Amino acid sequence: MKTKNILVVGGAGYIGSHTVKMLAASGYQPIVVDSLVSGYKEAVAKYPFYQIDMHDTQKIGEVLQKHEIEAVVHFAAFIEVGESQIDPQKYYENNVMGTLSLLKAMRQNQVDKIVFSSTAATYGEPVYTPIDEKHPTLPINTYGKTKLVVEGILADYARSYGLNYIALRYFNASGADFAADIGESHKPETHLVPIILQSVLGLRSFKVFGDDYKTKDGTCVRDYIHVLDLASAHIKALEKFAGNKQVAESINLGNQKGYSILEVIKMVEKVTGKKVVYELAARRPGDPAVLIASSEKAKKFLGWSPQYDLQDIMASAWKWHQRKPYGFNST
Ligand code: UFG
Repeated sequence: MKTKNILVVGGAGYIGSHTVKMLAASGYQPIVVDSLVSGYKEAVAKYPFYQIDMHDTQKIGEVLQKHEIEAVVHFAAFIEVGESQIDPQKYYENNVMGTLSLLKAMRQNQVDKIVFSSTAATYGEPVYTPIDEKHPTLPINTYGKTKLVVEGILADYARSYGLNYIALRYFNASGADFAADIGESHKPETHLVPIILQSVLGLRSFKVFGDDYKTKDGTCVRDYIHVLDLASAHIKALEKFAGNKQVAESINLGNQKGYSILEVIKMVEKVTGKKVVYELAARRPGDPAVLIASSEKAKKFLGWSPQYDLQDIMASAWKWHQRKPYGFNST
């Protein structure tokens, strides 16, 4: 059988680069497109790569043609909740308008399959838990709104143009490839796991945002999901496009298990053998108390279930941060 060429837009980012590596290991040919505004070329050094902004319909179209692309996996987005509140235009222009340009290039070149990176932030403040896909979608920040708008666009394109799509709503992506050649890297880093591990390495201080939530110990509860489990879900999603039936779905990706920040700290201490030093600080605006996914639909529809737990997440992230304390950044 001919190798399927998959265009991975935003493939040089955190979840993108892990998916690229797994696609290659699973017999696909990933072709990476990234603007490198927040991605790292080093993370995808082994694969065909184009530095293109997804707004450039013409250039994306040329790559789709040249490589006879079968399907697109689309990770490219700005992802910082706090920044999205300060500068919504930046988020709508990139996440929504950029995706419209990408979809235009796909239509012009008869590529009709896309896996889209969505987020738990599309739900907003949970009204029940675990959150299934029927839960109301009332995002409380611009980041979540941009992702929900794109899901709406995908649904319209599915109805009117026959687009096939799967939007994967990630909960808290974390961990690294076990080979530690790639891992989490953001600039600036705002995510819990890298921040705690950098603090354990003595590179920064660490603050726990809020201990007065209505949770088991007062700190926020999150559903941490290994980045390799996210990557494998993208492959399952691509496999769903193989049949004759049109596919148009939004699906949660989580472990269906919540850990508080204090429980995460305990796990870090277990894995690293070091004490985590922290200060208690005020709540961070916009943080829901609890976010836990129902992963029933992912199990049923994709035949996917996560393979890794919080200890695997921490062990792999620790290996990565020991090798590359700041990820692909120098500070
Ligand atoms: N936290 C701290 N101290 C820190 C950093 C984080 O206490 O220095 C806390 C946060 O307040 C939160 C938890 O750790 O309670 C996890 O925070 P992250 O920033 O790692 O992750 P979020 O849950 O805020 O965000 C994740 C994704 C976002 C997505 C959001 C909702 O990173 O892209 O889930 O789906 F929008």
